[in-house]
Amino acid sequence: MGLFQKKKEIDNNLIIPVHIGIIMDGNGRWAKKRGLPRTAGHTVGAKNFRTITRYCSKIGVKYLTVYAFSTENWKRPQEEVTALMKLFKQYLQEALTDFLEDDIKIKFIGDTTAFNSELQQLIMDTEEVSKNRPGMVLNIAMNYGSRSEIVRAIKNISEKVCNGELKIDDINEKLVSDYLYTAGQPDPDLIIRPSGEYRISNFLLYQSAYAEYVIDNILWPDYSTDDIDRAILEYNSRNRRFGGV
Ligand code: FPP
Repeated sequence: MGLFQKKKEIDNNLIIPVHIGIIMDGNGRWAKKRGLPRTAGHTVGAKNFRTITRYCSKIGVKYLTVYAFSTENWKRPQEEVTALMKLFKQYLQEALTDFLEDDIKIKFIGDTTAFNSELQQLIMDTEEVSKNRPGMVLNIAMNYGSRSEIVRAIKNISEKVCNGELKIDDINEKLVSDYLYTAGQPDPDLIIRPSGEYRISNFLLYQSAYAEYVIDNILWPDYSTDDIDRAILEYNSRNRRFGGV
């Protein structure tokens, strides 16, 4: 039994956040500390991504959004980008073969047209295979940046205003949400950032207006299911007022 479940036996009011976001940070530093290439950190980070994803699904998280590759990550050395693409490919191939019994619905957020055609096909196949599953929605943010997501929404809304499908007065907070990659999903309640960095890094800017942040000084490859439980307990200790009193 995990830490959260143990505490819940004592305090039945504890809740699981509906939507959790995770910035999977610290792979490079984890590798450096061990004298390994950065790519070794990503390999262990990718393994941990599988463990944490399954755990979140098991404990009843309904939406999990993980930051796997940002619009800025292309600036990394070619060797590192190539290694990351290989890890994405491996994961997607597994998702299409070994994980067919899973009930997790996999969705990609970000501009996936920038990836090579093989990866794009795997992305489409994975979404298709999992689209009717009843379980947790796993949003994998790949070539994702929140600013470009907002710009894309503005362009799409503007186009509809120009061609008369929408009126200026139709534009409100809900409508803007509906033009983001996360359309139709609840906003994140809890955003976890391992590795001790106090930054948002262009992640879910619009959606996280009232999210609770938990920053942990643990590098992503070492981030355990107990750490997830601790973050959820920390979330439960917060007094969410959404601007009220
Ligand atoms: C940030 O750590 C991490 C990334 C840019 C990549 C995240 C990718 C994975 C966890 C593996 C693959 C994921 C899937 C979906 C299979 P960093 O490299 O910036 O670490 P640093 O800040 O210590 O340098």
